[in-house]
Amino acid sequence: MASITLNVNGKDCPVTVSDLNMPLLWVLRDLIGLTGTKYGCGIEVCGACTVLIDGQREHACVFNVSSAVGKKVVTIEGLSPDRSHPAQKAWIAKQVPQCGFCQSGMLMTVAGAMNAGHHGAEIASECKNLCVCGTYQRVKQAVAGL
Ligand code: FES
Ligand code: FES
Repeated sequence: MASITLNVNGKDCPVTVSDLNMPLLWVLRDLIGLTGTKYGCGIEVCGACTVLIDGQREHACVFNVSSAVGKKVVTIEGLSPDRSHPAQKAWIAKQVPQCGFCQSGMLMTVAGAMNAGHHGAEIASECKNLCVCGTYQRVKQAVAGL
């Protein structure tokens, strides 16, 4: 067991983990209780688990929790206090989600691309996240104006 502190959504979160190689996703969901970040594939294919670490997109399903210590982790719950992030506004305007399962990962992927200074079609081509409901056309429409 090891005690570590993660900075998540601007707050320091002390946690005790059984293994420092544990995926960040397990810690976010099971120990900190932030369940907005989803588990899909576990092998860096679907993007459902995407979070921002120091502003960059990472797949929490394969990101060792120890590597997140000392960095700023942002999950969908912390993307904005009031759904005012431009990507969230675009998602609402275009009514992108269907079942919603993949959507937090989609939004965090788009937010990370925006942090990298990317726009519109460039973001759409980078967003390879999988959506079983097939919301791809609405995602494309939503990011067109970003
Ligand atoms: S659960 Fe991490 S990429 Fe699919
Ligand atoms: S909205 Fe259902 S999986 Fe994407």
